[in-house]
Amino acid sequence: TLAALSPQDLRGKKIMLTLGPTREYFDKARFWSNPSSGIMGASLAIAAALRGAEVTAITGPVDIALPSLIKRVPVVTARDMFEAATDIFPSQDIGCFTAAVADFRPPSCPTGKYKKNGGPLSLTFDANPDILATLSTAKKSWQQTIGFAAESQDLEHNAALKLRKKNLDLLIANPIDEAGAGFAAATNRVLVMDRHGRQEAWPQLPKTEIAWRIWDWISMNTP
Ligand code: CTP
Ligand code: CA
Repeated sequence: TLAALSPQDLRGKKIMLTLGPTREYFDKARFWSNPSSGIMGASLAIAAALRGAEVTAITGPVDIALPSLIKRVPVVTARDMFEAATDIFPSQDIGCFTAAVADFRPPSCPTGKYKKNGGPLSLTFDANPDILATLSTAKKSWQQTIGFAAESQDLEHNAALKLRKKNLDLLIANPIDEAGAGFAAATNRVLVMDRHGRQEAWPQLPKTEIAWRIWDWISMNTP
């Protein structure tokens, strides 16, 4: 099998991933979301499982297949994902947060569905919890966290801020407005930085290969 040909450098590790978008319904027919494909998260989940890890993937609503050796916990909203991750993370060695979580949620319609009335509709959004920041700033000394950053400007500066502010071990940052990078693409061009100040800019690569290299990095820096 493929696993038999892979290094087993993640054997004995429990890894939790979040992946895909979240979906925030504001009435029975409509929701607020983003075009996350789940490809980065699925690639990381599959690579980790092949390398011997016990993998749990908390998945937002996205049409992506995962092999049965990965435990899947499907959720819809950011708050569902937060609840699932809060339950699971305490028993994990590594948390990898690839989900494109909606930062805000619209209020849900009290009458079931908004009817058109010839005028505009305005809604005030509430802030969703930051799953990564909450779990990562409270992590135990033996736990590691991997975060992602989608940036529209000042990539390196904003990424370094997120690494520190969210207490991450590793951060993968990408520009959101570049062809062949980020959302809903099969490739990405990323800047990788870790808590020890190591930093690398990788060329545009398939997300499957980025996933493999991320585990190489973790594996080289974990006793
Ligand atoms: N994240 C999360 N929960 C949220 C928002 C983000 O777990 N409510 C995680 C993402 O999965 C990602 C990281 O935090 O690993 C950074 O997400 P990003 O959207 O780049 O940053 P934010 O902290 O949300 O800041 P902003 O969108 O304002 O740049
Ligand atoms: Ca965000």
